[in-house]
Amino acid sequence: MAGRSVVVGVGHYLPERIVPNSEFEKTLDTSDEWIRSRSGIERRHFAADGETTSDLATNAAEAALADAGLTAEDIDAIVLATSTADLTFPSAATMVQARLGMTHGFAFDVQAVCAGFVFALSNANALIVSGQAKRVLVIGAETFSRIMDWTDRSTCVLFGDGAGALVLELQEGEGTAQDRGILSTDLNSDGRYKDLLYVDGGVSTQSTGHLRMQGNQVFRHAVEKLAKTAETALGRAGLGSSDVDWIVPHQANIRIIQGTAKKMGLPMDNVVVTVQDHGNTSAASIPLALSVGKQRGQIKPGDLIVTEAIGGGLAWGAVVLRW
Ligand code: UT7
Repeated sequence: MAGRSVVVGVGHYLPERIVPNSEFEKTLDTSDEWIRSRSGIERRHFAADGETTSDLATNAAEAALADAGLTAEDIDAIVLATSTADLTFPSAATMVQARLGMTHGFAFDVQAVCAGFVFALSNANALIVSGQAKRVLVIGAETFSRIMDWTDRSTCVLFGDGAGALVLELQEGEGTAQDRGILSTDLNSDGRYKDLLYVDGGVSTQSTGHLRMQGNQVFRHAVEKLAKTAETALGRAGLGSSDVDWIVPHQANIRIIQGTAKKMGLPMDNVVVTVQDHGNTSAASIPLALSVGKQRGQIKPGDLIVTEAIGGGLAWGAVVLRW
């Protein structure tokens, strides 16, 4: 027997405003054709003025709780992955906790940029299997539109805003790879690569700053590191690529997603793809894709899923779970 963190609810929220690629043609030397062919992105959502990360996160959390048939009363902890919290402190997670009317338990943010949701899932799993929480709300929420340099065509066309959430619950499994729930994780970071993807501001430097990225360098690391972390996590569960029903990747670039699937020897039929509709929503992209994948009827109970992500740090990792 083994305690497992099983997904019992999933939900997402996207801000109302949809921005097609053509909008950028008005102000930048770019084209719908370039953005589509180099990244796979066709549109993205941007938060309204005054709409914050904790607003998006609360909406996604409510959707996940409704899907699980639970209320905030039933939740022991909230782990929220974000790099774009409303305030320097308190955490966006405690703001969501208050908005949900939850006056017990604990809540905190995890910051691992685009790999944030994989890090949050892994931490939530650790809380559950070590007996510190029975049900954890795991959220990825971002408003990257707030840190774009709108004059930099190489970055501002790539990102979007949104939020997704899962409810994880402690259930008893057999201790085999046939169990439902999180089966294995693999987390990595290497701070030597800071300059490839970072925000050139922050509290300690007295500014908010803008996202800076050497896209082609990040691209090169991504395909290699994502396939490797996915295979490492699968190996830890005693599984291989051929056991995978769905890769649910971080949605940064369709060419990275295709390259990773190819390296893993899996066809695109086994990949949940949402990058065309959401752009890169950083820590929100995996829970958004899980929620949309379930809505589309792609992800079904019992399916073996591997999620993988890489971002600023560099930080990267993978989680293997059975839905
Ligand atoms: O989520 C965190 C992880 N982030 C990622 O995974 C992003 C990884 N990187 C990428 O997705 C891709 O590298 C990009 C989509 C950012 C860029 O694609 P690329 O094929 O690597 O292009 P590139 O950066 O090598 O640039 C090619 C050309 C350059 O022109 P020159 O120097 O060859 O004349 C750029 O200036 O494309 C130009 N370019 C653009 N042209 C039109 C860059 N951005 C644009 C644009 N419109 N928006």
